[in-house]
Amino acid sequence: MSMDLSVRIGSLTLTNPLIAASGCFGYGTEYADLIDLSSLGAVAVKGLFLNEREGHPPPRIVETPAGLLNAIGLQGIGVHRFIAEKMPELRARRAVVIVNICGTTLQEYVELAGILSDVEGVAALELNISCPNIKEGGITFGCSVHGTAEVVAAVRAVTPLPVIPKLTPNVTDVSAIATAAEDAGADAVSLVNTFLAMSIDVETRRPRLSNIVGGLSGPAIRPIAVRMVYECRQKIRIPIIGMGGIATAADVLEFIIAGASAVQVGTANFADPLIWPKLIDGVRAYGERHNVRKIGDLTGTIDTSAREKEWISS
Ligand SMILES: Cc1cc2nc3c(=O)[nH]c(=O)nc-3n(C[C@H](O)[C@H](O)[C@H](O)COP(=O)(O)O)c2cc1C
Repeated sequence: MSMDLSVRIGSLTLTNPLIAASGCFGYGTEYADLIDLSSLGAVAVKGLFLNEREGHPPPRIVETPAGLLNAIGLQGIGVHRFIAEKMPELRARRAVVIVNICGTTLQEYVELAGILSDVEGVAALELNISCPNIKEGGITFGCSVHGTAEVVAAVRAVTPLPVIPKLTPNVTDVSAIATAAEDAGADAVSLVNTFLAMSIDVETRRPRLSNIVGGLSGPAIRPIAVRMVYECRQKIRIPIIGMGGIATAADVLEFIIAGASAVQVGTANFADPLIWPKLIDGVRAYGERHNVRKIGDLTGTIDTSAREKEWISS
Protein backbone atom coordinates (compact mmCIF):
# COMPACT_ATOMS: atom_id res chain seq x y z
CA MET A 1 0.00 0.00 0.00
CA SER A 2 1.26 3.44 -0.91
CA MET A 3 2.24 5.68 2.02
CA ASP A 4 -0.16 8.50 2.98
CA LEU A 5 1.96 11.61 2.43
CA SER A 6 -0.52 14.17 3.74
CA VAL A 7 0.53 16.37 6.67
CA ARG A 8 -1.24 18.90 8.84
CA ILE A 9 0.17 22.33 9.60
CA GLY A 10 -2.31 24.03 11.94
CA SER A 11 -5.66 24.10 10.17
CA LEU A 12 -3.98 23.42 6.83
CA THR A 13 -3.69 19.96 5.28
CA LEU A 14 -0.98 19.54 2.66
CA THR A 15 -1.14 16.62 0.21
CA ASN A 16 2.56 15.99 0.80
CA PRO A 17 5.32 17.47 3.00
CA LEU A 18 7.36 19.14 0.23
CA ILE A 19 7.24 22.93 0.11
CA ALA A 20 9.18 25.20 -2.23
CA ALA A 21 11.31 27.49 -0.01
CA SER A 22 10.83 31.23 -0.12
CA GLY A 23 13.20 33.10 -2.40
CA CYS A 24 14.18 29.95 -4.30
CA PHE A 25 10.99 29.51 -6.33
CA GLY A 26 10.16 33.08 -7.37
CA TYR A 27 6.44 33.74 -6.98
CA GLY A 28 5.73 30.19 -8.14
CA THR A 29 4.39 31.37 -11.48
CA GLU A 30 7.91 31.30 -12.99
CA TYR A 31 7.97 27.49 -12.58
CA ALA A 32 4.35 26.80 -13.53
CA ASP A 33 5.15 25.53 -17.04
CA LEU A 34 7.85 23.20 -15.70
CA ILE A 35 6.20 21.72 -12.61
CA ASP A 36 2.56 21.13 -11.74
CA LEU A 37 2.33 23.54 -8.81
CA SER A 38 -0.58 21.59 -7.32
CA SER A 39 1.70 18.54 -6.99
CA LEU A 40 3.77 20.34 -4.33
CA GLY A 41 2.64 20.38 -0.71
CA ALA A 42 2.82 24.17 -0.95
CA VAL A 43 4.74 27.05 -2.48
CA ALA A 44 6.30 29.64 -0.16
CA VAL A 45 6.63 32.73 -2.32
CA LYS A 46 9.47 35.26 -2.31
CA GLY A 47 9.42 37.51 0.76
CA LEU A 48 7.06 40.46 0.38
CA PHE A 49 7.07 43.89 1.96
CA LEU A 50 4.19 46.33 1.60
CA ASN A 51 6.08 48.17 -1.13
CA GLU A 52 8.35 47.20 -3.99
CA ARG A 53 12.05 46.87 -3.14
CA GLU A 54 15.11 46.85 -5.35
CA GLY A 55 17.31 44.76 -3.08
CA HIS A 56 21.10 45.02 -3.08
CA PRO A 57 23.20 45.75 -6.18
CA PRO A 58 25.17 42.86 -7.74
CA PRO A 59 27.16 40.79 -7.04
CA ARG A 60 24.62 39.23 -4.72
CA ILE A 61 25.10 35.49 -5.26
CA VAL A 62 28.37 33.58 -4.73
CA GLU A 63 28.91 29.85 -5.01
CA THR A 64 30.86 28.22 -2.17
CA PRO A 65 32.18 24.62 -2.03
CA ALA A 66 29.00 23.12 -0.58
CA GLY A 67 26.58 25.97 -0.60
CA LEU A 68 25.30 29.23 -1.92
CA LEU A 69 25.98 32.62 -0.39
CA ASN A 70 23.37 35.26 -1.16
CA ALA A 71 22.61 38.82 -0.27
CA ILE A 72 19.64 39.59 -2.47
CA GLY A 73 18.30 42.08 0.08
CA LEU A 74 14.68 41.01 -0.36
CA GLN A 75 14.05 42.42 -3.80
CA GLY A 76 10.35 42.16 -4.47
CA ILE A 77 7.24 43.52 -6.15
CA GLY A 78 5.35 44.41 -2.97
CA VAL A 79 2.13 42.91 -1.69
CA HIS A 80 -0.32 44.82 -3.91
CA ARG A 81 1.31 43.87 -7.20
CA PHE A 82 1.67 40.28 -5.93
CA ILE A 83 -2.06 40.07 -5.27
CA ALA A 84 -2.98 41.64 -8.62
CA GLU A 85 -0.37 40.02 -10.87
CA LYS A 86 0.56 36.66 -9.34
CA MET A 87 -2.36 35.39 -7.26
CA PRO A 88 -4.77 34.87 -10.20
CA GLU A 89 -2.35 32.42 -11.86
CA LEU A 90 -1.47 30.71 -8.56
CA ARG A 91 -5.19 30.19 -7.94
CA ALA A 92 -5.74 28.90 -11.47
CA ARG A 93 -2.84 26.45 -11.05
CA ARG A 94 -4.31 25.29 -7.71
CA ALA A 95 -1.11 26.02 -5.80
CA VAL A 96 -1.24 26.01 -2.02
CA VAL A 97 0.25 29.44 -1.39
CA ILE A 98 2.22 30.34 1.71
CA VAL A 99 3.06 34.03 1.63
CA ASN A 100 6.38 34.95 3.21
CA ILE A 101 6.02 38.43 4.72
CA CYS A 102 8.70 40.87 5.86
CA GLY A 103 8.44 44.10 7.76
CA THR A 104 10.73 46.87 8.85
CA THR A 105 8.30 47.57 11.72
CA LEU A 106 5.80 45.56 13.72
CA GLN A 107 3.02 47.59 12.12
CA GLU A 108 4.14 46.51 8.65
CA TYR A 109 3.79 42.79 9.54
CA VAL A 110 0.32 43.51 10.95
CA GLU A 111 -0.74 45.48 7.89
CA LEU A 112 0.51 42.79 5.49
CA ALA A 113 -1.26 40.07 7.47
CA GLY A 114 -4.50 42.05 7.41
CA ILE A 115 -4.32 42.61 3.65
CA LEU A 116 -3.44 38.98 2.82
CA SER A 117 -6.09 37.50 5.12
CA ASP A 118 -8.77 38.71 2.70
CA VAL A 119 -7.12 37.31 -0.42
CA GLU A 120 -8.64 34.14 -1.85
CA GLY A 121 -6.09 31.37 -2.23
CA VAL A 122 -3.63 32.50 0.45
CA ALA A 123 -3.27 29.41 2.66
CA ALA A 124 -0.85 30.59 5.36
CA LEU A 125 1.53 33.35 6.37
CA GLU A 126 5.21 32.67 6.92
CA LEU A 127 6.71 35.51 8.97
CA ASN A 128 10.21 36.26 7.80
CA ILE A 129 11.87 37.44 11.00
CA SER A 130 15.16 35.89 9.97
CA CYS A 131 16.59 37.37 6.76
CA PRO A 132 20.26 38.16 7.46
CA ASN A 133 20.50 40.55 4.51
CA ILE A 134 18.53 43.57 5.64
CA LYS A 135 19.51 46.01 8.32
CA GLU A 136 16.16 47.16 9.67
CA GLY A 137 13.26 45.12 11.12
CA GLY A 138 13.12 41.42 10.21
CA ILE A 139 15.97 39.60 11.87
CA THR A 140 16.17 42.09 14.72
CA PHE A 141 12.78 40.67 15.83
CA GLY A 142 13.81 37.08 15.18
CA CYS A 143 17.03 37.29 17.17
CA SER A 144 15.25 37.83 20.46
CA VAL A 145 12.66 35.89 22.40
CA HIS A 146 10.77 39.11 23.09
CA GLY A 147 10.83 40.34 19.47
CA THR A 148 9.67 36.98 18.15
CA ALA A 149 6.78 36.82 20.61
CA GLU A 150 5.83 40.40 19.80
CA VAL A 151 5.55 39.84 16.03
CA VAL A 152 3.79 36.49 16.32
CA ALA A 153 1.22 37.77 18.83
CA ALA A 154 0.53 40.91 16.80
CA VAL A 155 -0.02 38.96 13.57
CA ARG A 156 -2.00 36.24 15.38
CA ALA A 157 -4.41 38.92 16.59
CA VAL A 158 -5.34 40.07 13.07
CA THR A 159 -5.51 36.89 10.98
CA PRO A 160 -7.38 33.59 10.93
CA LEU A 161 -4.66 32.12 8.63
CA PRO A 162 -2.03 29.74 9.99
CA VAL A 163 0.89 31.83 11.30
CA ILE A 164 4.33 30.34 10.72
CA PRO A 165 7.31 32.39 11.93
CA LYS A 166 10.52 31.52 10.10
CA LEU A 167 13.39 31.34 12.53
CA THR A 168 17.00 32.33 12.16
CA PRO A 169 19.83 29.94 12.97
CA ASN A 170 21.98 32.95 13.89
CA VAL A 171 21.17 32.70 17.60
CA THR A 172 22.62 30.75 20.51
CA ASP A 173 19.47 28.78 21.38
CA VAL A 174 16.95 28.46 18.57
CA SER A 175 14.66 26.30 20.74
CA ALA A 176 14.11 29.24 23.12
CA ILE A 177 12.95 31.33 20.15
CA ALA A 178 10.72 28.47 18.95
CA THR A 179 9.17 28.21 22.41
CA ALA A 180 8.47 31.95 22.44
CA ALA A 181 6.79 31.61 19.03
CA GLU A 182 4.63 28.73 20.21
CA ASP A 183 3.62 30.55 23.40
CA ALA A 184 2.66 33.63 21.35
CA GLY A 185 0.23 31.61 19.22
CA ALA A 186 2.20 30.34 16.21
CA ASP A 187 0.64 27.37 14.39
CA ALA A 188 4.04 26.04 13.28
CA VAL A 189 7.63 27.24 12.92
CA SER A 190 9.86 27.15 9.84
CA LEU A 191 13.56 26.64 10.39
CA VAL A 192 16.11 27.53 9.27
CA ASN A 193 16.77 30.64 7.27
CA THR A 194 20.34 31.16 6.01
CA PHE A 195 23.48 31.38 8.14
CA LEU A 196 25.30 34.72 8.24
CA ALA A 197 28.51 34.20 6.26
CA MET A 198 31.05 35.89 3.97
CA SER A 199 33.52 35.19 1.21
CA ILE A 200 36.58 37.24 0.19
CA ASP A 201 38.49 37.37 -3.09
CA VAL A 202 42.08 37.26 -1.84
CA GLU A 203 43.56 38.70 -5.06
CA THR A 204 41.58 41.93 -4.76
CA ARG A 205 40.99 41.62 -0.99
CA ARG A 206 37.42 42.57 -1.67
CA PRO A 207 34.30 40.86 -0.36
CA ARG A 208 32.61 38.81 -3.06
CA LEU A 209 29.18 40.23 -2.19
CA SER A 210 28.28 43.89 -2.59
CA ASN A 211 26.64 43.70 0.84
CA ILE A 212 29.95 42.32 2.26
CA VAL A 213 28.10 39.61 4.24
CA GLY A 214 25.28 37.31 3.16
CA GLY A 215 23.36 34.17 4.02
CA LEU A 216 24.68 30.64 3.44
CA SER A 217 22.32 27.91 2.22
CA GLY A 218 22.68 24.48 0.61
CA PRO A 219 24.26 21.16 1.69
CA ALA A 220 26.89 22.88 3.89
CA ILE A 221 24.24 23.89 6.43
CA ARG A 222 22.20 20.68 6.50
CA PRO A 223 23.71 18.95 9.56
CA ILE A 224 23.39 22.16 11.59
CA ALA A 225 19.78 22.63 10.48
CA VAL A 226 18.94 19.00 11.31
CA ARG A 227 20.39 19.50 14.79
CA MET A 228 18.27 22.62 15.26
CA VAL A 229 15.09 20.81 14.20
CA TYR A 230 15.94 18.01 16.64
CA GLU A 231 16.50 20.49 19.48
CA CYS A 232 13.26 22.36 18.79
CA ARG A 233 11.28 19.10 18.62
CA GLN A 234 12.29 18.42 22.25
CA LYS A 235 10.84 21.78 23.35
CA ILE A 236 7.71 22.54 21.31
CA ARG A 237 4.52 20.72 20.31
CA ILE A 238 3.50 22.67 17.18
CA PRO A 239 4.67 21.33 13.79
CA ILE A 240 8.15 22.18 12.54
CA ILE A 241 8.81 22.85 8.87
CA GLY A 242 12.47 21.93 8.45
CA MET A 243 14.89 23.07 5.79
CA GLY A 244 18.54 23.62 4.98
CA GLY A 245 20.40 21.85 2.19
CA ILE A 246 17.77 19.27 1.27
CA ALA A 247 18.71 17.74 -2.08
CA THR A 248 17.64 14.08 -1.89
CA ALA A 249 14.79 11.99 -0.49
CA ALA A 250 17.14 10.79 2.27
CA ASP A 251 17.66 14.44 3.27
CA VAL A 252 13.88 14.94 3.46
CA LEU A 253 13.58 11.88 5.68
CA GLU A 254 16.48 13.00 7.89
CA PHE A 255 14.62 16.21 8.76
CA ILE A 256 11.36 14.33 9.35
CA ILE A 257 12.99 11.74 11.58
CA ALA A 258 14.69 14.58 13.50
CA GLY A 259 11.26 16.09 14.18
CA ALA A 260 9.93 17.99 11.17
CA SER A 261 6.35 17.50 9.93
CA ALA A 262 7.10 19.06 6.54
CA VAL A 263 10.18 20.38 4.76
CA GLN A 264 11.17 23.13 2.36
CA VAL A 265 13.61 22.83 -0.50
CA GLY A 266 15.44 25.95 -1.64
CA THR A 267 18.94 25.95 -3.14
CA ALA A 268 18.60 22.46 -4.68
CA ASN A 269 15.74 23.75 -6.83
CA PHE A 270 18.17 26.14 -8.57
CA ALA A 271 20.37 23.22 -9.62
CA ASP A 272 17.47 20.94 -10.56
CA PRO A 273 14.00 22.47 -10.97
CA LEU A 274 12.65 18.97 -11.72
CA ILE A 275 13.74 17.68 -8.30
CA TRP A 276 10.21 17.48 -6.87
CA PRO A 277 8.90 14.19 -8.34
CA LYS A 278 12.28 12.59 -7.58
CA LEU A 279 11.98 13.55 -3.92
CA ILE A 280 8.41 12.29 -3.70
CA ASP A 281 9.25 8.98 -5.41
CA GLY A 282 12.22 8.49 -3.07
CA VAL A 283 10.12 9.16 0.03
CA ARG A 284 7.42 6.75 -1.20
CA ALA A 285 10.03 4.05 -1.90
CA TYR A 286 11.36 4.46 1.65
CA GLY A 287 7.81 4.10 2.99
CA GLU A 288 7.40 0.82 1.14
CA ARG A 289 10.81 -0.49 2.25
CA HIS A 290 10.12 0.32 5.88
CA ASN A 291 6.37 -0.37 5.96
CA VAL A 292 5.46 3.19 6.92
CA ARG A 293 1.72 3.74 6.49
CA LYS A 294 1.70 7.50 7.02
CA ILE A 295 4.55 10.01 6.69
CA GLY A 296 3.41 11.68 9.92
CA ASP A 297 4.24 8.47 11.78
CA LEU A 298 7.92 9.10 11.05
CA THR A 299 8.11 12.58 12.57
CA GLY A 300 10.54 12.69 15.49
CA THR A 301 11.18 8.94 15.43
CA ILE A 302 14.95 9.27 15.79
CA ASP A 303 16.18 6.48 18.04
CA THR A 304 18.92 7.81 20.31
CA SER A 305 18.71 4.98 22.87
CA ALA A 306 21.60 2.86 21.55
CA ARG A 307 23.87 5.91 21.30
CA GLU A 308 22.97 6.99 24.84
CA LYS A 309 23.85 3.50 26.14
CA GLU A 310 27.19 3.65 24.29
CA TRP A 311 27.94 6.98 25.98
CA ILE A 312 27.07 5.71 29.44
CA SER A 313 29.18 2.57 29.08
CA SER A 314 32.23 4.35 27.58
C1 LIG B 1 18.61 33.32 -3.21
C2 LIG B 1 17.84 33.08 -1.93
C3 LIG B 1 16.79 33.93 -1.59
C4 LIG B 1 16.08 33.72 -0.42
N1 LIG B 1 15.02 34.54 -0.10
C5 LIG B 1 14.28 34.30 1.02
C6 LIG B 1 13.14 35.09 1.32
O1 LIG B 1 12.73 35.98 0.56
N2 LIG B 1 12.47 34.83 2.48
C7 LIG B 1 12.86 33.82 3.33
O2 LIG B 1 12.22 33.63 4.38
N3 LIG B 1 13.92 33.03 3.05
C8 LIG B 1 14.63 33.25 1.92
N4 LIG B 1 15.70 32.44 1.62
C9 LIG B 1 16.05 31.32 2.53
C10 LIG B 1 15.46 29.99 2.05
O3 LIG B 1 14.04 30.05 2.00
C11 LIG B 1 15.89 28.83 2.98
O4 LIG B 1 15.47 29.10 4.30
C12 LIG B 1 17.40 28.62 2.99
O5 LIG B 1 17.95 28.86 1.72
C13 LIG B 1 17.80 27.22 3.46
O6 LIG B 1 17.26 26.22 2.62
P1 LIG B 1 18.12 25.59 1.37
O7 LIG B 1 19.46 25.21 1.91
O8 LIG B 1 17.29 24.42 0.90
O9 LIG B 1 18.22 26.66 0.34
C14 LIG B 1 16.43 32.63 0.44
C15 LIG B 1 17.49 31.78 0.08
C16 LIG B 1 18.19 31.99 -1.09
C17 LIG B 1 19.31 31.04 -1.45
